Amino acid sequence: MYGYNLPEDFLIGTANSAFQSEGAWDRDGKSESIMDYYAKEYAGKYSPGNVPSKQELKSGRTVPLSMDLPDRGCFFYDNYEEYIEDMQKTGQNTYRLSLAWPRIIPTGTGEVNQKGIDFYNKVINKLLACNITPFVDLYHWDLPMCLMEKGGFANPDFPQWFEAYAKVCFENFGDRVKLWSTFNETYISVFNGYSKGTFPPFLMDMKNALAAGHNVMLAHFRAVRLYRSMNLGGKIGIVNCRSAIAPANIKQDDLKAVQIQSENSFDMWTLPLVEGKYPQFLIDEVPFVGENMPANYQADLDKWFTPMDFLGINYYVAARTQYDTSKPLHSAAAEPFFSAPGQMFTPYPAGLFDVVYYISQKYPSLDIYITENGCALENINDEEAECDDPARIEYLREHLRMVSRLIKCGVKLKGYYYWNDADSYEIQDGYRLRFGMTWVDHKTGRRRWKKSRYYFSEICKNKMVN
Ligand code: NOJ
Repeated sequence: MYGYNLPEDFLIGTANSAFQSEGAWDRDGKSESIMDYYAKEYAGKYSPGNVPSKQELKSGRTVPLSMDLPDRGCFFYDNYEEYIEDMQKTGQNTYRLSLAWPRIIPTGTGEVNQKGIDFYNKVINKLLACNITPFVDLYHWDLPMCLMEKGGFANPDFPQWFEAYAKVCFENFGDRVKLWSTFNETYISVFNGYSKGTFPPFLMDMKNALAAGHNVMLAHFRAVRLYRSMNLGGKIGIVNCRSAIAPANIKQDDLKAVQIQSENSFDMWTLPLVEGKYPQFLIDEVPFVGENMPANYQADLDKWFTPMDFLGINYYVAARTQYDTSKPLHSAAAEPFFSAPGQMFTPYPAGLFDVVYYISQKYPSLDIYITENGCALENINDEEAECDDPARIEYLREHLRMVSRLIKCGVKLKGYYYWNDADSYEIQDGYRLRFGMTWVDHKTGRRRWKKSRYYFSEICKNKMVN
């Protein structure tokens, strides 16, 4: 039998983000993030299945947010010790978490909140005591609202604000954290937030979005440069997302649409960080991008470019695209190949192989981590059924077999993080979706392992996917 094994030193574990897991959104000095603010502001004006029109979005009155608030997450703030002990029992050797900027510097810039530092110190120390390597994201969705009031990513001072925040994090945690990522899913944060208007802060202005995105690139460089100068001996990279993108039909135009989608969603956010330039094809081919690029972008990249150590890839879905010049990006979503009932993302394990293999060829200098990959099942308000989750077991088996194959093919794949550790909060869906391997009662915080966690535990302990 072919053995789907994983290397002994392979990092394998789970992930979650601060705003989605911690709860305690206003405790111990933490200020409001854009996620807290917009969820409260718009709660109740959206119900699943009732997605508002672009016009409604523009008016800012109705937005696709669930009626739930991210005020509880999975109660990680209160129960982090038990969660981490569960991770240890699972046999995982790593956990990916993010730090909440508004917990660490509630005013965005300036004074540090010691209680925030204390919390993350306790979490990091507990992880290390349980032999779990922390992989820490500096930014995963939750910009302090006070900085959003000044334009957020689009403010030209954003790179300096971010560098100052990163400095506080490196100084306080850098002696123990050796794997750092600057941003999570730059494409989604920037485009959904500033151009498509589907995520907080719900803006729809491409010029502003590209300025915001460029500032995020510069902020990344500043943090990497600073990290290098501090000689802390760890690695630093970024987490981007990439779907498996297929042409609607095998014809020249649709293949062009694939390239546009791929460059727009991925290379736009990765190439500058690796080669110091934006993807030229996209800029030349799509006026919506080319005409809205910030002035002097190349000079800025030349000035700030600093190479990073690794790339994190979040992989969930496959998409089909077709060429369509009536759309701003000259490409439109085509009907999916199929869909899986009760699942938000249709699983397509072969796409994980394709995406990671493609990236490893295009960006050969980088180590790769699969920083997210996860199965979202709908909340059906039935604890027994939700804990008995064969779909998630199959999901894990098939995707982790692809991981084993990728490593056999020589891809420098160093780790895999299942999203997510425990049922938490989703930006557009609140508590309606359950991604976790640990089931959570969202009212009380009571936890219970799902069957998938027992299955995952065997993989972690044996480094073998059966
Ligand atoms: C990627 C994001 O990083 C994460 O925060 C989110 O929960 C998952 N996608 C699932 O939607």
